[in-house]
Amino acid sequence: MKILITGGAGFIGSHVVRRFVTTYSNYQIVNLDKLTYAGNLENLLDVENSANYKFVKGDIVDADFLQNLFDTEQFDAVIHLAAESHVDRSISNPIEFVMTNVVGTVNLLNAAKTSWKGSYNSKRFYHVSTDEVYGSLGEGTEMFTETTAYDPHSPYSASKASSDHFVRAYHDTYGMDCVISNCSNNYGSFHFPEKLIPLSIHNIKQNKAIPIYGKGENIRDWLWVEDHARAIDVIFHKAKTGSTYNIGGHNEWTNIDLIRTLCKVMDKKLNREEGTSEKLITYVTDRAGHDLRYAIDATKLKKDLGWEPSLQFEEGLEKTVEWYLKNEKWLNNVTSGNYQHYYEEQYQNR
Ligand code: NAD
Ligand code: TYD
Repeated sequence: MKILITGGAGFIGSHVVRRFVTTYSNYQIVNLDKLTYAGNLENLLDVENSANYKFVKGDIVDADFLQNLFDTEQFDAVIHLAAESHVDRSISNPIEFVMTNVVGTVNLLNAAKTSWKGSYNSKRFYHVSTDEVYGSLGEGTEMFTETTAYDPHSPYSASKASSDHFVRAYHDTYGMDCVISNCSNNYGSFHFPEKLIPLSIHNIKQNKAIPIYGKGENIRDWLWVEDHARAIDVIFHKAKTGSTYNIGGHNEWTNIDLIRTLCKVMDKKLNREEGTSEKLITYVTDRAGHDLRYAIDATKLKKDLGWEPSLQFEEGLEKTVEWYLKNEKWLNNVTSGNYQHYYEEQYQNR
C-alpha cells in the first residue's frame, strides 16, 4: 500500500509519519508538505532515511502539481493533515486558511477522485479534523459527540468545518471511501512554540512572561499527540467508509490550572524554588471570539474500535517538559529560524 500523508512535517503529521513508517515496513509512505513556518523536517530526523519513506515538497493549493503527483505515484490512500492550524493567525490572515484548509482539501479530493477513476475498492481518503468545528460549550458537563451540529466561530474552525463538509460531500456524491476524525487539543514533542503549552515551556525556561488570554478560564480537553497518532492508525485501518470519530482525552483543564500545573513541573525540573515560574503568569487581552469550552465524548471510538488514551495528563506533561529540556537544539533551531534551511541543505540535491 502506498499512502500519501499530507502535512507530515508538522506537529501531529510528524508523529503519524513516524508511526506508519516504523510500524508498517510493507507500506510506502510519501510525506507531502509545503514547509510553511509550521513544517519542520527536523521533526523526522529518525525516519528520514527509512527505505519506505519519501519526502515531497509541495503545496496542496496547486491543483496541477497535485494531479501530477497522484498520476506518478498512484497512491492507495491519503491521510490528510496539512493545514493552517493556529487560531490567532487565522484571525489576522483568514484567506490563507481558506486557501490551504478549504481549497487545498478540495484539490486533494479531486486529485484522488481522478486518480482512482471512481473505483474506491481498497482506496481510502482519511481527513484529520478538529473538535473546534463544533463550536463552544458552556461550563456544564455537555460534550461534543459525532452528531453535534457544526457551529464554528473562528476563521480556523470555519475553514476546517468547510473542509469536513467537502469530504462528506465527496463520499455522499461520488461514493469515495472517506473517513473523518475530530480531535481535541494535542500536546507533546515537536509542538511549535506558538501554541499554549510549548510557548509556556519556552518562556518559563527563559524567565519570560507567560501570556494568559482573558482570565484563563477557558477550558480545553488535552490529548497526548502519540495517542492521537495511534487513534488515526486504528481509524484508518478499521473504520467503516463514511464514518466519523471523535478523539479526545476526557481530560479538561482551564488554561490557568493547566499553566499552574506546568509551572510546578518546570520548577521541579529546573531545580527552581516552587512558585518561581508562577510569577511569570501575565494576563493579556483576550482572543477575539475565544471559545469558552471544548470537551470530546470519545465513547464511539472506544466502543467500536477499542481505542483509549494511554497516558494520564500529569505523566504526559512531565514527559513533554523533559523532551523540551532535552531537545534544546530542536527548540533553538525553531526559535532562531534555522530549521527553515534544512530542506535546502539536506534535500534539494537528493
Ligand atoms: P501544524 O501547523 O503543526 O502542521 C501543519 C503542516 O501542514 C505543516 O507541516 C505545514 O508546512 C503543512 N502545510 C500547511 N499548508 C500547506 C499547504 N498549502 N500544502 C502542503 N502542506 C501545508 O498542524 P498540526 O497541529 O500538526 O495539525 C495537523 C492537523 O491536525 C490539522 O489539519 C489540524 O487542523 C488538525 N488538528 C490539530 C490539533 C492540534 O491540537 N494541533 C487538534 C485536532 C486536529
Ligand atoms: P492554542 O494552543 O492556541 O490552541 P487552540 O486555540 O486551538 O485551543 O490555545 C489553547 C488555549 O490557550 C486557548 O484557550 C487560548 C489560550 N492561550 C493563551 O491563553 N495564551 C497563549 O499565549 C496562547 C497561544 C493560547
